[in-house]
Formats: sequence, C-alpha cells, structure tokens
Amino acid sequence: MNKTTRGSFTGKIGFVLAAAGSAVGLGNIWRFPYLAAKYGGGIFLLVYIILAVTFGFTLMIGEIALGRKTGLSAIGAFKALNKKFSFIGYLASLIPAIILPYYSVIGGWVMKYLSVFLTGQCHSATSDEFFGNFISSVGEPVIWFLLFLTITAVVVLLGVEKGVEKVSKIMMPVLVALSVVIAVYSMFMPGALEGVKYYILPDFSKFSVTTILAAMGQLFYSMSLAMGIMITYGSYMKKDVNIESSVKQIELFDTGIAFLAGLMIIPAVFVFSGGSPEALGKGPSLMFVTLPKVFDSMMGGTVIGIAFFVLVLFAALTSSISLMETVVSILCDKLKINRRLVCGIVFIAIFLVGLPSCLGYSIWSEVKVMGMQFLDFFDFASNSVLMPIVAFFTCIFIGYVIKPKAITEEIEISAKFKREKMFNVIIKYIAPICIVLILVSSVFDALGIFKI
Ligand code: PFF
Repeated sequence: MNKTTRGSFTGKIGFVLAAAGSAVGLGNIWRFPYLAAKYGGGIFLLVYIILAVTFGFTLMIGEIALGRKTGLSAIGAFKALNKKFSFIGYLASLIPAIILPYYSVIGGWVMKYLSVFLTGQCHSATSDEFFGNFISSVGEPVIWFLLFLTITAVVVLLGVEKGVEKVSKIMMPVLVALSVVIAVYSMFMPGALEGVKYYILPDFSKFSVTTILAAMGQLFYSMSLAMGIMITYGSYMKKDVNIESSVKQIELFDTGIAFLAGLMIIPAVFVFSGGSPEALGKGPSLMFVTLPKVFDSMMGGTVIGIAFFVLVLFAALTSSISLMETVVSILCDKLKINRRLVCGIVFIAIFLVGLPSCLGYSIWSEVKVMGMQFLDFFDFASNSVLMPIVAFFTCIFIGYVIKPKAITEEIEISAKFKREKMFNVIIKYIAPICIVLILVSSVFDALGIFKI
C-alpha cells in the first residue's frame, strides 16, 4: 500500500486499543490458564511475566517500529529495508493461516457454550462428561466451527472493522470488570485458597526448560508477536505517538486479562476437581470444564455465564477477524484479484484445514501427527516452531542488519527511548541465543529424541 493513502489511528488510545483488541483473545482466556495450570502454576506465571517485560517488550517495540518506519506490513517492511530478508515477512505471514483454522474451532466451542447458557442448560454443562461428549460428537462441533468462521468471514468481507473497533472500546472494559468479579468470586470459594497459592506462589522445583518454552510460545501467541501483525499495526501509527509507552500499555492490558483468567479458573479447579496433576493437566478443555461449575454455583450464574461467554466470543471474534484480514489482504496484494473471491477462497481453505482439528476428538481421534492430536499439532507448529524461527530472524535483522540504532531513531521521533540499553542487549545477544536453544529443545522434545 502506498504510504500516503494509508489510514492511521487517530492517536495513542486508538492505537493501544486496536492493538490490544488483536492481542486479547482466546489466548488470554482459554490458553493461558490451561498452560499455567499444567506447567506448575506460580512458576509459569513468574517466568511468563519476566519474559513479557523483557522479550515481549523488545520484540513488540521492534515490530511496531519496523512497521512505522517503513509504513508497510510485514512482507513489504522487510523487503524495503533489505531485499535478502523479505523471506522473514513471508514466513511470518504463514502463521496467521495456521492459527486461524484451529482458533475458529475453539471459537465454535465458545459459541456452543453460549448457546447452552442461553437456553438455560447451565447445570447440564457442569458434568465432567459434557465437554468430552460434545467434542467427540461428529456433526455439532463442525457446525459451530462453521458458524464462527462464517461470522468472521462476513465481517472481513463487509469490512466493518471500524465498527468492531468502536464496540471493542466498550466491550474490553466490560470484559475486565466482569473478569474481576468472577475472579474474586472464584478466589473466595471454600477450598479455593490452595489453588490461589498454586497459581501465585512459585514452586521452583517445578521449573524446567519446558516451562520457558511453553511460556515463550504463549507470549508470542498472546501478544500477536512474530507473525507480522504488530508490524502492520505499527504501519498505521502516527509519528508523534510514543511507541515505548504504548507497548507498556498493550502488555499491561494483555497480561492483566491473562492473569485474571487464571484467577478465575485455577482456584476453581482445586475446588471442584482437587489439585491433582490430572485435573490441572486437562489442557484445552480446562476452561470449558471448570467455568460452568463456577457459574452454576453462583447466584445469578446463568446471567453471568451468558455475559461471560458473550464477551469471550467477542474477544475471540476481534482476534479472528484480524487474523483473517491479514491473510486476505496479503493474498489480495499478491494475487491482485477481487477481494470477495479471495475471501471465498480463504473461507473454504480455512474450513478444510480446520476440519482435522475439529474432528481430531471424534472420528479422527486415532490419527496422530508426531504423537499429537491435530489441534495440538497446529498449535505446536505455529507457536513452538514457526514463531520462534520468525522471532529469531527478526532479532538478527534488527540487531545486525539494520542495527538497533535504526529502531532507536524511529522511537525517538516522539520521545526518548528509556529502555534502549535493555533493548539492544536483548535483541542482539540474549534473545537470539535463547530462542535457538528453545527451538532446538522443543523440536527434539516433540520428535522424542530426548526429553528435557
Ligand atoms: N493474540 C490473540 C490471542 O491471544 O487470542 C491471537 C491472535 C489474534 C494472534 C490475532 C494473531 C492475531 F493476528
């Protein structure tokens, strides 16, 4: 897109809310709590927060500055600064296409739960088998998946992102308020204290390389990093907006919602299922199995449950819309064909790629890829393999090709870069080394070559 015809955010608040709208989604409410529960509670939380203020901060600053500097999205931005490195942009653009199919499958699950609460069947959703029976059925999850994907595609097709953004300005604060209410309720249920302690107090004996690996994958995912999204958002940012303080606010928003989601879910796991490793290690089903129990035990739980699932659905939709928008606009630019046609092709392709994730709990439950169910495999391929690769090359690109000074100059157009030293050290040395170590260990781990 031409620099002069590019739209831009009106100011800092507009930018922060738009970026937070993409960042806050199922990653915060569904993915973060189950990873925290699985990987030792407090220790995972601690590692995640340390990574967020160091790695997350550095990468997000770098990506937004790259976008603003060039006024281009991922493919164009790398290409404009050094032709040899345009492959990073292509690689990054592949990630939303891998995430969107299974993201929509989970979005469908959220819609199913909303329908359950709307039809007053809250109590039936509290049985342990309810979720398992739902995802192991064949037709229903596919229908909900299709519905979620259709809504996403329709919004992208109509191009009503502006409207979505207006609504999210209201919905996001409501989501925060409701999360606080549910989290406080959950924390004070009899027997919840053990869960609060598990979630907040780090147990260093539970620390391992896998903790860092899982936390880092989650960080990229949750903050929409290493997939070109923040480069695109940066390209729409005005030159007088302070990048550094915007990044701090986006991080605070994103991590705050994830933290609250953990407080809603993990203490409740202790109340309803005990703190056994089996209950904590439930994985993707955790939110769907635990939260209905919390709502069922609350006064006015059905109404709170409905409000909660509406908000989660909305957060998921704002994220899936930005994922699909990315895929569609890249293809429109490349193929130079009609946007409607591209939307149609993307819709069908995403549906077909998402189908194995959707059926991986029913008719295809026997089929495993590298020992993983389809949904877990796609999640692993994007978060633990591709994103670290993109993050690694982005660090090398900034650290050694265009040099950190180029980023500092961009940031200092609007204000002094306060954490410049930390940025330089992380982007040049710490991040690339750690990312390689993590990538190698995750791939070896998955291939079963050695176990950490
Ligand atoms: N960050 C989103 C989440 O945590 O749910 C996922 C996501 C949305 C990633 C949009 C990328 C993106 F463009």
